[in-house]
Amino acid sequence: MCPVLRIVGGQPLEGELQVNGSKNAALPIIAATLLTDGEVRLKNVPDLVDVRVMLSLCRVSGMEFGYRGGDLIVRTGQIRECPTRPEAGSIRASILLAGPLLARCGHFQAPLPGGCSIGDRGIDFHIQALRMMGAQVAIGSDMIRVRTGGLHGAQVELPFPSVGATENIMMAATLAEGRTRILNAAREPEIVDLATFLNRMGAAVEGAGTSHIQIKGVEELKGAGHEVMPDRIEMGTLMAAGAITRGRLTLKRCPLNTDGEFFDKMAEMGIELSRRGSEIAVACEEHRPADIRTGPYPGFATDLQPIMAPLLSLADGESTIVEGVFDNRFNYVSELRKMGFRAEGDGRRQTIRGPTRLQGCNVVAPDIRGGASLIVAALGAEGVTNMASCQKVFRGYERIDQRLRSVGADIELMGEDDDLEG
Ligand code: EPU
Repeated sequence: MCPVLRIVGGQPLEGELQVNGSKNAALPIIAATLLTDGEVRLKNVPDLVDVRVMLSLCRVSGMEFGYRGGDLIVRTGQIRECPTRPEAGSIRASILLAGPLLARCGHFQAPLPGGCSIGDRGIDFHIQALRMMGAQVAIGSDMIRVRTGGLHGAQVELPFPSVGATENIMMAATLAEGRTRILNAAREPEIVDLATFLNRMGAAVEGAGTSHIQIKGVEELKGAGHEVMPDRIEMGTLMAAGAITRGRLTLKRCPLNTDGEFFDKMAEMGIELSRRGSEIAVACEEHRPADIRTGPYPGFATDLQPIMAPLLSLADGESTIVEGVFDNRFNYVSELRKMGFRAEGDGRRQTIRGPTRLQGCNVVAPDIRGGASLIVAALGAEGVTNMASCQKVFRGYERIDQRLRSVGADIELMGEDDDLEG
């Protein structure tokens, strides 16, 4: 039986939840551990399907890993030069193995990366940069093979501040000969977290968090410890869940200094956030319309726009969402419409009309964040929502059903499935 997430809407969420470690910080950091033969100890790694896939891909390359006191302990003593497993095709982050594997053993071969269907997700920036650094790249219809006799530094100007390409270049450059400069680099907090970890291993990365990153290649990297940053997208999702139910949630271990435009928009939408250190209390008396335009950090995170859409539909008036990163990130709209959501537009822009009383019904999760959007909508809707393909949501949210239940949501996972596609 395929699993279904059953949600009965209308219960105000009240109580405390802790924000977990960031998926999009943990994935590149796990890939980066391949750069050393020393032991790495990682705290706050979320237990997610995508993380497990990443670990199983790294194991093929020689990584050994286990858990000690909740921390992930990793060592890749002897690197193995062999093709990555077919699961590499199921997650986008598999391309992040290219930089570390090329740097460490001069070889990377894998199925082309997959991930959520949210638009054209090319890897041309990664390939172009690796070529500039001395790699030979061959791409077939479904495989990529990259080889190098030794990477050297280069000046790479990215056509768009791609998160994954910035991460891949940074990792490849740590052990390359000479200096690498990344211009128009992505500035996301997850980039800063990766750079901090690389530097703890002995790398020389400067400027992470700005659009100009410099990496001076070093002879070798050593083992290190690191705590993965909290997940700002999970934080935003839990805030939206609390706000749509007009509950009172307190979120603990929120990321610091990662606000971007997000907090201003939440205030505009009528969501009151009071912050004390890494703790944020969320309340909402009235839903208000807003205009959201997503963009690279510090712009509004594209991963959070699907999650804000149900909140905007409750507001009295017209709201717009303009998507500035991906070209097909409104694939959740057709599912939300089944619940009464009113929006018009195309793949780049949607106009949302409210107020709408959302009604529970049967829906299908299109991807991680689209599924999270449907959960938020269902929590604020009247009646029962049954969400199929809910495993997609578990790729990005650890035990989300149990955690929401602990703050009063009427939510239950029915049936089982081991489908990793998404
Ligand atoms: N792009 C290219 N060519 C490339 C690389 C990117 O054209 O070689 C384009 C993409 O098609 C897209 C834009 O550049 O239009 C930005 O893509 P980016 O490379 O920044 O995204 P990513 O690294 O593939 C990460 C996150 C995404 C998040 C984006 C943007 C991970 C594993 N994934 O993807 O997270 O939406 O950055 O912030 O870090 C999610 O968690 O649900 C998710 C999709």
